[in-house]
Amino acid sequence: MDAGDRKVLTSVKASTLGHPVIGAAVAASLIGLLGLNIAAFIGGSAASWLPGSVLIADLLVIGAGIFVAARGVLVAEHRSEASEARLESILDSAMDAIITVDAAQNIVLFNRTAEQVFGARRDEVLGNPLDRFIPQRFRTLHRGHIQHFGRTGVTSRKMGDVTTLWGLRANGEEFPVEASISQAAQDGKRYFTVILRDITRRKQAEDEINRSHQELRELSARVLEAREEEKTRIARELHDELGQLLTALKMDLSWLRERLPAANPDLGAKADEMRALLDQTVTSTRRISADLRPLMLDDLGLADAANWLLDDFSKRSGMKCDIRVLAEHSLEDVSPAASTAVYRALQESLTNIGRHSGAKNVWVTFAGGNGSIQVEVEDDGRGISPEDLTKARSLGLRGMRERITYLGGSLDIARAPRGGTRLRITVPARGGPSGGTT
Ligand SMILES: Nc1ncnc2c1ncn2[C@@H]1O[C@H](COP(=O)(O)OP(=O)(O)OP(=O)(O)O)[C@@H](O)[C@H]1O
Ligand SMILES: [Mg+2]
Repeated sequence: MDAGDRKVLTSVKASTLGHPVIGAAVAASLIGLLGLNIAAFIGGSAASWLPGSVLIADLLVIGAGIFVAARGVLVAEHRSEASEARLESILDSAMDAIITVDAAQNIVLFNRTAEQVFGARRDEVLGNPLDRFIPQRFRTLHRGHIQHFGRTGVTSRKMGDVTTLWGLRANGEEFPVEASISQAAQDGKRYFTVILRDITRRKQAEDEINRSHQELRELSARVLEAREEEKTRIARELHDELGQLLTALKMDLSWLRERLPAANPDLGAKADEMRALLDQTVTSTRRISADLRPLMLDDLGLADAANWLLDDFSKRSGMKCDIRVLAEHSLEDVSPAASTAVYRALQESLTNIGRHSGAKNVWVTFAGGNGSIQVEVEDDGRGISPEDLTKARSLGLRGMRERITYLGGSLDIARAPRGGTRLRITVPARGGPSGGTT
């Protein structure tokens, strides 16, 4: 217990003067004294000792009154000093900077953390405008904001959620702050208190996280791009090199077949088997090449490649597929990155429908316009659940989202009105690095 607290306790004891019994005794004494004064006034000439005694009694009572009043004032002063000291120590132990300004926005309170944060001593700043701690370009705005808050009690700046505010240290350094403001009136005057926190470190950490996210996104895009380039190269070689060699082999076999002796039918039959095998090899090579990358995506464009993909899927899966291409002309001026992203998204959607949906029908709509491509893929299968989207080892939809988001597009996956699954993809038509294949 410190000296201030002891004084307060003494003053609490002194307040026993206000007890009703003591009050009654004091009142009775005063009435008695009044009676004595009247007696002295009336009988003073008869008994010469009476006025003198009464005068002494009066002086004693007046002295006691002055003593009690002075003591009361002192006690009140001690009390208010003690509570001020307590408040000051609370404010100084706060981890946030606390600044109070009056209606003219001059500083009237500046706690210890504020001294550390702004690098200025309390005695230098008290009575001075708050402006010195706000960067020049924000001063007018900030002043207006406090005035508006004073009038309406509404603050548009819920610091910490959207806007980062900036403070200015005494050494001229700007730093980000998170702050809240409140107002109170005392003796008819209005005061505003700002509680603020220096968030330089947090901001740096957030910037660091954002930067590394961006780097990861770029790295992942680069990996996809490299994979796509590699697939294109293999697809081209399969198509051009192997395809031509196989065609040449077929022609040679035909030449040989014609010259085989008719007397040996086994040789002819063997040559026919070889021809059938060669045909199969050509078909497989085409399919593998197209799966790797449909060269028609580069040669003919997105709409034709999507048609081919759906046709091929329908043949392989037996599902009924319907494709509608709206505003086909707007699908012509599409960057390689955007057309690859859309094509790969369609390819993954169809693979998923084939593997997971149990659907009978698939509807695909392609539309273009306003600088973007919109694709909708819907099936009438079992539908997708929220848990499906968070499967740890499933990468198809995640990769699709990653690729589309990187290009500035969006992917929406939901249960379709008819019960199946519906994917909605939007991609900027000229998205991605120009000339890239991602
Ligand atoms: N059309 C669909 N109908 C029903 N469920 C679906 C459909 N598409 C996806 N799913 C569900 O969503 C999950 C995630 O799909 P995703 O493509 O991300 O991964 P995956 O197909 O399981 O594996 P992969 O990484 O090989 O693509 C699937 O496992 C499946 O349960
Ligand atoms: Mg998948």
